[in-house]
Amino acid sequence: MQIRLDKYLADMGVGTRSQVKQHIRRKQVTVNGEFSAGPEQKVTPGEDVVSFQGQSIPYAQYEYYLFYKPKGCVSATTDNCHKTVLDYFPENRRKGLFPVGRLDIDTEGLLLITNDGALSHNLLAPGKHVPKTYYAEVLNPVTEEDIAQFAQGIDIGEAKPTRPAKLAPLPGEGLPTAQVELTVTEGKFHQVKRMFEAVGNEVLCLKRVSMGGLELDESLSPGEYRPLTDTELQKIRR
Ligand code: URA
Repeated sequence: MQIRLDKYLADMGVGTRSQVKQHIRRKQVTVNGEFSAGPEQKVTPGEDVVSFQGQSIPYAQYEYYLFYKPKGCVSATTDNCHKTVLDYFPENRRKGLFPVGRLDIDTEGLLLITNDGALSHNLLAPGKHVPKTYYAEVLNPVTEEDIAQFAQGIDIGEAKPTRPAKLAPLPGEGLPTAQVELTVTEGKFHQVKRMFEAVGNEVLCLKRVSMGGLELDESLSPGEYRPLTDTELQKIRR
């Protein structure tokens, strides 16, 4: 498959389509070591070596980022009122990036950002039961009874109770405690908050710490992201 050189460079985040046209005209782009003939030149991703300012720009069809979603932004690609998760990526970012699933505006933590629709579909498919672990601070300390109820399944007003979920005190904490970890294997709307509400409790603070074998990278600050490593990618593809 051949694509236009300006599209290739824009797809790889070198700049907007008009910016990369300028780079090409200013002789900052080579194809197989030769200055490009123009933005409309056709190149074959994976075969032709495209370089910008002397640095080769390999073509990657898909991109995967581990994002530390901060509180106060919405898990959407556009929004009229609020900042979105994509506002934390550069303006010339690859078109087509989107968050895999949603975290509430006041929830922080791990969110996968990609342009790979098939992978997203797989991770979110209800039948896949991909585990997601949250750190939560709740109003009332949880008890053994809460743990047993979460393990059994909770009526949150849906047709069926929630699937068995693992509620545990944070490592090093004993019961009763208001600082817990909860692992769920489904993704209903406001699920964690509704589960605690159903047992007469209230979530005060919620942070996703893992999803399908991916863990939040605590060296990132809220609002920062990094590409997934090959090992992480293998884990979520499994
Ligand atoms: N459950 C919630 O209630 N909120 C989230 O953001 C994620 C899971």
